[in-house]
Amino acid sequence: MRTTTLPRPRGELTEHLFSALRAGGDFRGLATKTTGDDAALALWVLHELHYRGLTDIDDALEWDPQLLRVRRQLEADLEDRLRSRFHAPAGLSFVEDALDWIDEQDGPSLARHVHRNASRDQVLDLLAVRSIYHLKESDPVAWVVPRLGVRAKAALMELQYDEYGGGDPNRLHHHLFELGMEASGLDPAYDAHLDAVPLEALEQNNTLSLFGLHRRLRGAALGHLAAFEATSSLPSRRMAEGLRRLDFPDELVEYYTEHVEADAVHEQLAVRTICAGLLAEEPELEGDVWFGAYTCLDLESRFAHAMFARWGIEERAA
Ligand SMILES: [Fe+2]
Ligand SMILES: [Fe+2]
Repeated sequence: MRTTTLPRPRGELTEHLFSALRAGGDFRGLATKTTGDDAALALWVLHELHYRGLTDIDDALEWDPQLLRVRRQLEADLEDRLRSRFHAPAGLSFVEDALDWIDEQDGPSLARHVHRNASRDQVLDLLAVRSIYHLKESDPVAWVVPRLGVRAKAALMELQYDEYGGGDPNRLHHHLFELGMEASGLDPAYDAHLDAVPLEALEQNNTLSLFGLHRRLRGAALGHLAAFEATSSLPSRRMAEGLRRLDFPDELVEYYTEHVEADAVHEQLAVRTICAGLLAEEPELEGDVWFGAYTCLDLESRFAHAMFARWGIEERAA
């Protein structure tokens, strides 16, 4: 399994952190009072120690207390930022009302743009940037499994079984994306496009890892999952049609067509069975479930704005 090569640093923290990681050395002096790209990239790399590891970096550093201190500070800053934007919908029940509430949130849509107007270069750029999510897909959610009661756990495993290909490596979703990238002429390596990934996409992925790695945030992780699945089926159809319009290969189109039907089922499963199971056992987590769902939509909307700006597109025309 290929691991991640350290990307280009984006500021003082990542400069120092990456040299110290390479030296296997002293992390005590690392300044965590940094924001933006520098903080987001540092956190992404530190989380990576918990996934597949980093090329030529000692695996034992996953549990280095000084690195954990840095990781915790960066995560605390991220969580504060996410919570400061969150407004809990008043008087709604997640299990009864979340799907309607999600439908009413109307953010900018990259899939709509790909469907009708995007150029081939814009789509290639989007695929490269999104690859840091798609090549992991359900991995951050897998951390949550042992932290749940039986109803939520059994239901989450039903969903995860699909995401992981139901026992067939060639149906494993993040592998389907890899095959699609390869067929489209894009380097499918996990770390190939990291330097091109904007802050907003790093933060989406850091948030998934934050919610997955902290047991106290299991409600937010499942709320995020529910909102993600509930906003995937129709955009996946649009993506598939846009990719066909631009003559992208079947392998890539198939990744999205797979998600049209799968996620129509997954959204019901995520809200009505997984979150319902969680909240039946731990009703005090309802606020966190909403926080996760809100954050999923908020970060996707920020990411879409960032991509339209990057392509010089006026959103009303998109
Ligand atoms: Fe999937
Ligand atoms: Fe799904």
